[in-house]
Amino acid sequence: MVQQPQPQPQRPGWWRDAAIYQVYPRSFADGNGDGVGDLAGIRNRLPYLADLGVEAIWFNPWYPSPMADGGYDVADYRDVDPVFGTLADAEKLISEALDLGIRTIVDIVPNHISDAHPWFRAALAAPPGSPERERFHFRPGRGADGELPPNNWVSEFGGVPWTRTTDPDGTPGEWYLHLFATQQPDLNWDHPEVRAEFEDVLRFWFDRGAAGVRIDSAALCTKDPALPDFDPASDPHPFVDREELHGIYRSWRRIADSYPDPRALIGEVWLPDAERFVRYLRPDELHTAFNFDFMTRAWDADQLRASIDTTLDLHAPVGAPATWVLANHDVTRTVTRYGRADTRFDFAAKAFGTPTDPALGLRRARAAALLSLALPGAVYLYQGEELGLPEVEDLPLDRLQDPMHFRSGGTDPGRDGCRVPLPWSGTAPPYGFTRQDVDPWLPQPAGWEALTVEAQRADPGSMLNLYRSALRLRRSTAALREGRFSWLESAPGVLSFRRGEDFGCLVNLSDAPVPLPEGGRPLLASAELTGGRLPVDAAVWLG
Ligand code: GLC
Repeated sequence: MVQQPQPQPQRPGWWRDAAIYQVYPRSFADGNGDGVGDLAGIRNRLPYLADLGVEAIWFNPWYPSPMADGGYDVADYRDVDPVFGTLADAEKLISEALDLGIRTIVDIVPNHISDAHPWFRAALAAPPGSPERERFHFRPGRGADGELPPNNWVSEFGGVPWTRTTDPDGTPGEWYLHLFATQQPDLNWDHPEVRAEFEDVLRFWFDRGAAGVRIDSAALCTKDPALPDFDPASDPHPFVDREELHGIYRSWRRIADSYPDPRALIGEVWLPDAERFVRYLRPDELHTAFNFDFMTRAWDADQLRASIDTTLDLHAPVGAPATWVLANHDVTRTVTRYGRADTRFDFAAKAFGTPTDPALGLRRARAAALLSLALPGAVYLYQGEELGLPEVEDLPLDRLQDPMHFRSGGTDPGRDGCRVPLPWSGTAPPYGFTRQDVDPWLPQPAGWEALTVEAQRADPGSMLNLYRSALRLRRSTAALREGRFSWLESAPGVLSFRRGEDFGCLVNLSDAPVPLPEGGRPLLASAELTGGRLPVDAAVWLG
């Protein structure tokens, strides 16, 4: 039999199996005592991240921004917002992190900019049909007086994704498209200046030592130039997953690859169709993308197994590593979600305020941590997950900031509840996040004293110490990086797999304890093992 030539293994890259920590700068640590997290605060806490054992940090946007969407409304892609510090601070942060072995990933927001960006100000000041407006999607309205939006699209944040402008003489003018908030006008990716601008922005951050970029809303940037009404039967979609995107990311890949230490492109690609999703990960496109399928699945063995199988099956042919994500700054915190009757995450049905059992949620989140850290590929860890923070569901309404909440007319709780500042120390707010007499930008709840970094460091059984031990073992165990993944036979409701020859992971999602396999030596467990059994809602690593 003729042997098929084997595909050349790609040059190994750090992004293929790294543990990457997500820092939401406003809420990580406040260095200057104004109640908002900043780069000085992050620099002070880099030793914490090195000790935790993460290999890279993805920073949510730190650019100058009016903060209409937590910084995803960027007014200048080549600077740092004064609330966070300066460009020089960012450069120091990047190099100090690298000295500790931690790479930096910056967030690039190509779909839209801020309405305070000079390009958009110029567009508003210029007349219809002007070159300044061509960088965006300006259109006359429908209806006798142009009083209706140009098409029937719906904003990703709910409501109409069009805002009508006012001409200099005070009369209503054209409309502009914004798939997100009004303050986030969408760019026209058919415009060569838009393409050139972002290629330059990539080089700007790569030249400053960024090891990669996280690409915001990566599947939305290009639009059908006719901006037709959305028709559920229409294929292709007028603004999701359009073919032209692949050409853009190929050009970005050439830039990333032009560096001696190639930079990584990480896509935020929300697509229900996994086969469409992996097309972005072909060898000359993005390096990796967040695995939202895994993140949104229920705490259920069949569900998780199906997601793992689909993920691995679809990534293998394109040679891209899988990623494993449990949470981020847009979704309900894991402990709260896993403590509910319905453990899925769904933007359309957030189950806000439905009962949750925090002890059960924490138990499952601990098991999920060991599961995701044992799977082949890269892992993303959102700040506070290593502390087992719950979603804060009772923020005072007058403190909420998220446009998702406001645009839903208040029916969607928004995403502030997973963005509450981290508790570092002490027994009451601000828990060492900022100066003692300062109220953080989002209030922290009472009762977090056992969740602080300080308290958890001292407790060998804490979530923090579980993550620390797991990340250490992950770094020192070759099988966890390179070992072949294979399922082992297991009882219903139990996930059991092997990495290489001598590492195993067992996760019990059934309703009764299960015996540990013969010969396996427990290396780390998410709950106490009694009588040679793995309790319910627990995971163990075996060597
Ligand atoms: C992405 C970000 C989210 C932001 C949106 C618009 O989904 O993760 O936080 O609101 O894009 O930029």
